[in-house]
Amino acid sequence: MFNEEERLITSAKIENDDNENLLRPKNLSDYIGQQKIKSNLNVFMHSAKKRGEALDHVLLYGPPGLGKTTLSHIIANEMGAEIRITSGPAIERAGDLAAILTNLSDNSILFIDEIHRLNHSVEEILYPAMEDYSLDMVLGKGPSARTIRLSLPKFTLVGATTRAGMLSSPLRDRFGVMFRLELYNEKELTAIITRSASILNINIDAQAAQEIARRSRGTPRIANRLLKRVRDFAEYEGSDIITLVIAKKALECMEVDELGLDNIDRKILLTIIDKFNGGPVGLDTISAASGEEAITIEDVYEPYLLQLGFITRTPRGRICLKRAYEHLGKCYTSQQPTLFDLQQDNGNNAEK
Ligand SMILES: Nc1ncnc2c1ncn2[C@@H]1O[C@H](COP(=O)(O)OP(=O)(O)O)[C@@H](O)[C@H]1O
Ligand SMILES: [Mg+2]
Repeated sequence: MFNEEERLITSAKIENDDNENLLRPKNLSDYIGQQKIKSNLNVFMHSAKKRGEALDHVLLYGPPGLGKTTLSHIIANEMGAEIRITSGPAIERAGDLAAILTNLSDNSILFIDEIHRLNHSVEEILYPAMEDYSLDMVLGKGPSARTIRLSLPKFTLVGATTRAGMLSSPLRDRFGVMFRLELYNEKELTAIITRSASILNINIDAQAAQEIARRSRGTPRIANRLLKRVRDFAEYEGSDIITLVIAKKALECMEVDELGLDNIDRKILLTIIDKFNGGPVGLDTISAASGEEAITIEDVYEPYLLQLGFITRTPRGRICLKRAYEHLGKCYTSQQPTLFDLQQDNGNNAEK
C-alpha cells in the first residue's frame, strides 16, 4: 500500500511541512478565498466583541488542507483571545477534558481538531459545557456519591473535522455556527502561492504560479508544498526564479499531471474503469481492489475527483464519468450506465 506520508500531493500534513505556521495568514483580511465564511464570521465576531461576550461555538468542516486550523487561529487573533489547542484522539478520558475546561480563561478559544474522533464519555462532558458553561462532576462512589456542578469560564469551542457526518447529532446541534470550507479556485490558489512565495523569498513568474495553482487540487496546503518542491528544482537547475518552463518540468518529474492528479488518483480511476467497467462500485470494493484505505479515498481523493466531474456518487456506488475516460485516454462506450439509469435504481441497495 502506498504510504500517505510519501505522497507528494497528499493534503494530510506530513513531517516536513516545517514552515506551515509561517505561511498561515494571521488576520481575516489575509485569508484568501472562502468569501462567504469570512463575511459571516466578521459579522459574528464584531457583534460578540461589541457585546463583550464569547463568540458562539463554531464548527469548521471540509477536506484536509483547506484552512481549518488557520481559521481557528485567526478567530482567536481577531477576538484578541487566548487559544488552547487539542484534538479528539488526544483527549482520552473525561477527566482530561475536565482539566482543560477548568483551566480556560474567560472568552478564550478551545480548538478541538478532528472533533469527530472524541470518544463518547468525553463528548458527554462537552454538552453542558457548551450549553451552560458548566461541568458536572461526580464525587465519591456508590450510594454516597454525589454530583456537583461547577461553572466554567465563558469560552468558544472551535471544532474542526473532515467529516461532519460522523459527528453525533447532539454535539452538532450545540454549535451555533457551522462553516463548510470549499475547495479553492485557480485564482485564489495563485494568490496563495504568490503570497507564500514572497514570505519564503522565492522568485516566481506569474505564469508559473498559475501553473502550480492549477495542479494543486483546490487545496492551499498542496499549493504551498508544490511551490517548495518546484523551488528545489529551480535551485538545482541554478535558476533564481521559477519560470513556467521550470514549473512544468518539475511537476512532470513529480508525476503531478495538468489537473494535479497523481498515481493514486489514476489508480483509483483505473480500478473503477478497468476492473468494474466504470462502476457503479462500492467504496469498500474500490478500497480492496486498489489497496487504498476507504476513509482516505473518501476524505482525500474523492472531493477533488467529484469536483472535476470525474466520478459521481450514486446509491449503488461510485461511477466514473466520461471526462475521466477522456483524461486517461480511455475509450468511453455507451455500455457504461448513465446517471439516469442509476437514478431509476436508488431503491433498496443504497450504499453508504
Ligand atoms: N485561505 C487561505 N489563505 C492562505 N493560506 C491558506 C489558506 N487556507 C490555508 N492556507 C495555508 O494552507 C496550509 C494548511 O492550512 P490548515 O489550516 O492547516 O488546513 P486544515 O487545518 O484545514 O487541514 C496553511 O499553512 C496555510 O498557510
Ligand atoms: Mg488542521
